[in-house]
Amino acid sequence: MALQPGLVLVVGPNGVGKTNLLEAAHMATQGFSPRTRTDSQVVRFGAEGARAAVAGRRGEVGLELEVTVRKGEGKRAGLNGAPLRAAEQLRSLVSTLVFTPDRLGVVKGPPAARRAYFDRVLGRFAPARAALPAEYGAAVAQRNAALRRVAAGASSRDAVEPWTERVAALGAELVSARLEALALLEPLVGSRADEFGLGAVSLRYDGEPPTAAGLAGVLDRDLERGVTSLGPHLDDVVIAAAGRDLRSFGSQGEQRLALLALLLAEAETIADRTGVPPLLLLDDVLSELDPGRRRILAARVRSAGQALVTATDAAMLPATPDQLLEVTPGSVLEAAA
Ligand SMILES: Nc1ncnc2c1ncn2[C@@H]1O[C@H](COP(=O)(O)OP(=O)(O)OP(=O)(O)O)[C@@H](O)[C@H]1O
Ligand SMILES: [Mg+2]
Repeated sequence: MALQPGLVLVVGPNGVGKTNLLEAAHMATQGFSPRTRTDSQVVRFGAEGARAAVAGRRGEVGLELEVTVRKGEGKRAGLNGAPLRAAEQLRSLVSTLVFTPDRLGVVKGPPAARRAYFDRVLGRFAPARAALPAEYGAAVAQRNAALRRVAAGASSRDAVEPWTERVAALGAELVSARLEALALLEPLVGSRADEFGLGAVSLRYDGEPPTAAGLAGVLDRDLERGVTSLGPHLDDVVIAAAGRDLRSFGSQGEQRLALLALLLAEAETIADRTGVPPLLLLDDVLSELDPGRRRILAARVRSAGQALVTATDAAMLPATPDQLLEVTPGSVLEAAA
């Protein structure tokens, strides 16, 4: 089925397959499901495998993407008919941003949810740095293993030092990459949030770049606990509106709007840096928003490139979509918008 650019509204009653459709679009464009990391879960009950394929344009260049999952064989991805080494490579070709109610954890969840989100963001802004968070995480794990060997009497304190150096170096790099990503996002998040009537939104990084001296200072404590107690794996980003931390003090609607402001700001930054806007998949985004804010969201999303927005009823969107799709069990039909 040919999808229009702009706002594509996907409607249908509960349980009919709207989220499945968005999941398939994510699978085909990013190589994984936004809902689960267990690939076999995307296969229809009782079936041997699943296939998701999309064709489209990235700027002026035509793209055909395909991802298949077969039980017992794992996952395969293809680009323009040729196999890719790993499905994860799709992420460097196309950006797809998702809103699902689960993702509200970015605003209201624990610090780890925000770290994971902003680390993804920094990778999308600067693909050369996309592996940095994982490299840092591996260095922390190595240092923790070294700490436990010392505690067990299997090696000397000196053996921790090379890992301390590495945690400090990669940690400082990670903090600076996060700060850069936040600096790019903050003004745009502020504008989007302002449009949504959230007031001045700020993104404040809560943490300091680690140093080898600082880590040496906590060595005794770290040896005792067997974990590295200092560094960006423990930092947070405080998302505040009008000076109030939205994690603790935001209403449901405000938390939702803050996440949307973040995603829209991210989409604009990606469009600006790469020349190609991302695909937006917004699942169950309209509930909990008042009609005025739904209208503002619709206008923003329409100009953002291409977006699939789900709703149980077309009347939930107080605007005319560029295309209306009706989902019934097993099929998707275009309807008059
Ligand atoms: N692997 C699977 N195989 C077959 N059916 C599945 C599988 N996983 C989920 N389902 C079913 O697919 C149906 C459609 O789910 P989906 O989440 O897409 O509905 P929806 O249209 O988004 O509904 P809602 O409006 O409630 O969000 C559900 O009944 C779900 O149980
Ligand atoms: Mg759904």
